[in-house]
Amino acid sequence: MKKIGWRGRFGALSLPAMAILFVAWFPGVSPLVSVCSAEVPDPVMVRLLATAAGMDPLGFAVVPQPPTLSSFVRQPSAAVLLGKALFWDMQVGSDGQACASCHFLAGADNRAKNQLQPGLNGGDGAFGNNPFTGFIDFPGFGPNYTLTANDFPLHLLSDTTNTNSVVLRDTNDVVSSQGVFNANFLGSDPLRMHDTGSPVPDPVFHVSGVNTRRVEPRNTPTVINSVFNFANFWDGRANFFFNGVNPFGPLDEISRIYENNAGVIVPQTLRMPFASLASLATGPPLSEFEMSFAGRSFPDTGRKLIPRQPLAFQKVHPQDSVLGLLSRATLNPDGTVSGNPGLNTTYRSLI
Ligand code: HEC
Repeated sequence: MKKIGWRGRFGALSLPAMAILFVAWFPGVSPLVSVCSAEVPDPVMVRLLATAAGMDPLGFAVVPQPPTLSSFVRQPSAAVLLGKALFWDMQVGSDGQACASCHFLAGADNRAKNQLQPGLNGGDGAFGNNPFTGFIDFPGFGPNYTLTANDFPLHLLSDTTNTNSVVLRDTNDVVSSQGVFNANFLGSDPLRMHDTGSPVPDPVFHVSGVNTRRVEPRNTPTVINSVFNFANFWDGRANFFFNGVNPFGPLDEISRIYENNAGVIVPQTLRMPFASLASLATGPPLSEFEMSFAGRSFPDTGRKLIPRQPLAFQKVHPQDSVLGLLSRATLNPDGTVSGNPGLNTTYRSLI
């Protein structure tokens, strides 16, 4: 765990290493060293420079473990199994959302339909425009729109090598991921994947008054290797220290967990280091844009899932590295998977 320190898209790189990569990526820019002749970075050269700088592929890096993990998790392999089932299970969301719905392809999302957000974080509820620059260039953009290759880049310069050149078209819309329909949580039915909810007319995400799924305000990053990020989410709000309750770590001073101390329930403050992903995982399940009807709580979600068969509506590949042995499906000689969905257990026994 030598080079973790600076959070960002470069999660596990030290500053000198980043300087070297910068030189490799933008060879013409550096006055000091010229390592590549082409404009496009040469992967072989990048690899050589990285190795020369003492960096290894992340596959060799030790995954940082919270030192107090064993006080909370008796058997890490069981936690991995439970976590993988929960990550892929469409029963976790209120209407069919799994974490993997938005993170299923190389850890990210390549869907094209209904993936646009008008810029709500900046107070803009209109699609296809940029109210800050006055551009109105994408009249077709709106809820349920299917993106095409021609829509990119959303911000088009007349000279792509010069940021000060004339902007030909622009929008502050964000390409992100669709989540849940706007609805208030009423309860869960043991036989159905979806929760029951009462629909709420959505002021932004609708087509002629019919709600579409709501779309997140930021692009979905890959989850692969996110364990090496010091903090997670684009703004780093998934804190390095897990407080046991929500993403905000020590910034939430009043969050408490409860310890069963020989039958006496004692509130405790938790500050578990190296646990940004634990902080993160408390966010999406109850988010009204990602996975949850409004007003659903973690106890509601726990009561829904605990008696259930994990992945009860999805076939699990019998050779899955973690879940395969519990799969109820069959692998056919031609590589297809048939048979029964779900795992041969319940969440109660996995827990
Ligand atoms: C509706 C789509 C959606 C669902 C469902 C979803 N995510 Fe995400 N995920 C996103 C978006 C969008 C972001 C970026 C949000 C931000 O930075 O504010 C993100 C960010 C992340 C990151 C941060 C990666 C980084 O580099 O910062 C991780 C890890 C992650 N999600 C894991 C999960 C887990 C675990 C679940 C389920 C509990 C989940 N996601 C459910 C869309 C989704």
